[in-house]
Amino acid sequence: MGRLAVKGGSPAAKDLLKLVPPWPTYGEKEKQALIEVLESRRWCRIFPGSRAELLESVFAEYHHAKHGIAVANGTVALELALKTVGVKTGDKVIVPAVTFIASASAATELGAIPVFADVDAETGNISPRSVREILGREDGVKAVVAVHYGGNPVNFDELRPLLAKRGVKLIEDCAHAHGSEWRGRRVGAIGDMGGFSFQESKSLTAGEGGIVLTDSDEYANKARLIHNIGRVVGRPGYEHYILSSNYRMTEFQAALLLAKIDELKEQVEKKHRNGAYLADRLRKIGGVEPQKMEEGVTKRGYYYFVFRYDAEEFGGVPKRRFVEALRAEGVPVDVGYGMPLYKQKAFSREAFLEVMPAGTEYPDYDKMHLPGAEEFTKREVTLLHYYLLGEREALDLIAAAIEKIKENIGELAA
Ligand SMILES: Cc1ncc(COP(=O)(O)O)c(C=O)c1O
Repeated sequence: MGRLAVKGGSPAAKDLLKLVPPWPTYGEKEKQALIEVLESRRWCRIFPGSRAELLESVFAEYHHAKHGIAVANGTVALELALKTVGVKTGDKVIVPAVTFIASASAATELGAIPVFADVDAETGNISPRSVREILGREDGVKAVVAVHYGGNPVNFDELRPLLAKRGVKLIEDCAHAHGSEWRGRRVGAIGDMGGFSFQESKSLTAGEGGIVLTDSDEYANKARLIHNIGRVVGRPGYEHYILSSNYRMTEFQAALLLAKIDELKEQVEKKHRNGAYLADRLRKIGGVEPQKMEEGVTKRGYYYFVFRYDAEEFGGVPKRRFVEALRAEGVPVDVGYGMPLYKQKAFSREAFLEVMPAGTEYPDYDKMHLPGAEEFTKREVTLLHYYLLGEREALDLIAAAIEKIKENIGELAA
């Protein structure tokens, strides 16, 4: 196959981008949907019969949930969920150490304190063992934010009984997990509430956007009130029943999402099949082990296709060099979030205490070292979900590029 591209050779996957649809996808349906909103002069959802209302029912139904509350983005979706289940200033919220920062900042925005749980080094998901250990050690835990990392559902069989026993609420962070299933049920309302993101890179997108799902009538009513600055949805005017904020989604967002939801359903199926195919190809190469999935995962939605890089199988070449070489071959891989959250500057003593209510004690994030999180982030390599939307030829190029690097690893080691 010749020299590695990073050393001046021809890229093995140079045609990959031609075989994958540009993201986000759109067509006439999306254009029409946006124009309809524009011309309707109903750009805000506060009126009855809104597109946001329709999206709420369509998305909730797809995700096997009773209720949906559409919001401005995935970050406030989590905030709304935490607020709705009763998280308040000074409460503790367990959060996996490896995730996007919003999984944790949703808690701090309410004055609650994130307690980092370790993640399973093979799945990247919150470790039920670590959650159990924290619950045995810490008082005042109100909720757990469980991220389906990359779209890989958490182990509900272990997590749910652990939390139910203690009255701790389970909030699913489904920002990565559109279409993912655990034992035949789509994620989002398996826990008490679930939050999704519709940000531009996500599997269903309107640029920005989010939704909260739940099966609880009580939580749904409360969340609707909170998200609409204390007003009852569909009753425009100035009657406010609680003090709150405005989390509402626009009608433009809702219209785009409605236009795209059928496509999402098809794409979930395709990514599930293609993800399994690519995982098989990688397993055969060795040293690039696909993210493990628990046996309860019956459908795998994707935000990231994740694999774990084993430098020993690649002549001791560090991950950073491997990623550089693979990118040069034409496969735009990355390293996920790059580090456990507790290493982010935002969790240094100064930065943390600056935003928290006076009197908050610093949880010594700066001294943390969670072995699963360290191991997972050390090895993690990610590819965004839409690369799974190509045909087999595209997936074969990805595998071929990795094979080429492995066969010519001497060029990198030298
Ligand atoms: C795991 C996770 N949670 C929450 C969010 C927040 O979503 P948004 O960007 O829509 O605010 C994201 C999005 O990047 C995410 O990846």
